Amino acid sequence: LSKIEIKLSDIPEGKNMTFKWRGKPLFVRHRTEKEIATEAGVNLAELRDPQHDTERVQNPSWVIVLGVCTHLGCVPIANAGDFGGYYCPCHGSHYDASGRIRKGPAPLNLEVPYYEFPDDNTVVVG
Ligand code: FES
Repeated sequence: LSKIEIKLSDIPEGKNMTFKWRGKPLFVRHRTEKEIATEAGVNLAELRDPQHDTERVQNPSWVIVLGVCTHLGCVPIANAGDFGGYYCPCHGSHYDASGRIRKGPAPLNLEVPYYEFPDDNTVVVG
């Protein structure tokens, strides 16, 4: 299927769920207030691939990214690593809770796919 529809009420705050979309893992993360505040406050000068959190999310509660490390394509682990977002165990890339690369060999932030929220409880990716 080229599109996937996800019910947001199935994903509790603080959890990241993995779906399969176009043959790839897709992460949907329900951020906590603390994560939202932390990511909004990151200084862009610290970033390898500088992007403000607002460029990466449509709704600050929800991070929707491909679960494919931008180094060599492993699947990162959620809620792990030095920046509390994702950690790729293959060669040690650390991503923050906006999916931005913060440390390790990966060159780019986790990719944000095209998505829309048709209503408050639904996201459609693709
Ligand atoms: Fe993720 Fe190498 S594939 S760090």
